[in-house]
Amino acid sequence: MLAQFPSKRHRRMRTTENLRDLVAETSLQPKDLILPLFVTNDQSSSEVKGACGIARYSQHDIIKIIDKAVTRGIKSVMLFPVIDNDKKDINGSLAFDENGLIPQTLKKIKSEKFPITTCVDIALDPYTSNGHDGIIRDTDNGPQIDNDKTLEALGQMSLVLATAGADAVCPSDMMDGRVAYIRHILEQNWFDSTLIISYAAKFASCFYGPFRQVVGAQPLTALKDKKTYQMDPRNGNEALSEILLDQQEGADVIIVKPGLPYLDIISNASSKVNSPIWAYHVSGEYAMIKAAAAQGYIDEKDAFIETAIAFKRAGARGIITYAAIELAEWCV
Ligand code: PBG
Repeated sequence: MLAQFPSKRHRRMRTTENLRDLVAETSLQPKDLILPLFVTNDQSSSEVKGACGIARYSQHDIIKIIDKAVTRGIKSVMLFPVIDNDKKDINGSLAFDENGLIPQTLKKIKSEKFPITTCVDIALDPYTSNGHDGIIRDTDNGPQIDNDKTLEALGQMSLVLATAGADAVCPSDMMDGRVAYIRHILEQNWFDSTLIISYAAKFASCFYGPFRQVVGAQPLTALKDKKTYQMDPRNGNEALSEILLDQQEGADVIIVKPGLPYLDIISNASSKVNSPIWAYHVSGEYAMIKAAAAQGYIDEKDAFIETAIAFKRAGARGIITYAAIELAEWCV
């Protein structure tokens, strides 16, 4: 029989901060945080309008920010490119350029010998003129994403980035079969140690808005949204099925994205799969906290900490967050 009041008083363990720390079920450490970074070819870094302080970093400044992240105990960064609009095309050709922005940045980071794991996003949207993650083909039913042709592009992109020194490739495109395809290409080319960190359950979400502003992938054309490849927010069982499949296909880490509205997916997946699960607290979620704090509605620091703790409590082992540097300072 469960203990009852007054022998059981839950408040007894909340008496002092020391005691609360002693019995806390969850903790947050700098190593749990993954910092997403946007890199540009421009000479100077810039803040992006409508992105609540998310910045585009020049090649020079990206080294400085990684140095800061390392100093605070962060162990991983996730790189995204900002490509000039006039260099984008329907096939996202610059995604396979061996001397492109991300390969150059990776080489620079490697030459600094930072103790940092470099993750790179694998999807075509920062490179395509229509802002989509895949290659579009015209059919009798109008424009459609060609899944299998896109796989070839993603495989080639993964190989280029692994060759340039990426420690982990992170497919975020939601094409069917991409993890197996990329794993096969990596194995064939002796990249057996390159991790695949898969955005296994990625939902068609309105919360990616600021991200798309930053990489200039807005407005979408040809297809007005990403609902034929990203998941329907109404589906939880399907998310688990996507996650199990990616694990079988060779993914090392599983990402659930966005974060807070999908805590149930994280919780369910963490009880059913053995791979580490990362939550992506995406740009729109970040912007909501920033904007509310700027209005004086909530305290920014408390909101970021409570959010990060929620991910850990739900079972996430890593959190991809634009507030990683601040959080790393707050949680030690
Ligand atoms: C690229 C990609 C997106 C995000 C991460 N990788 C945008 C999208 O799918 O439209 C969004 C991340 C964020 O909003 O912070 N496929």
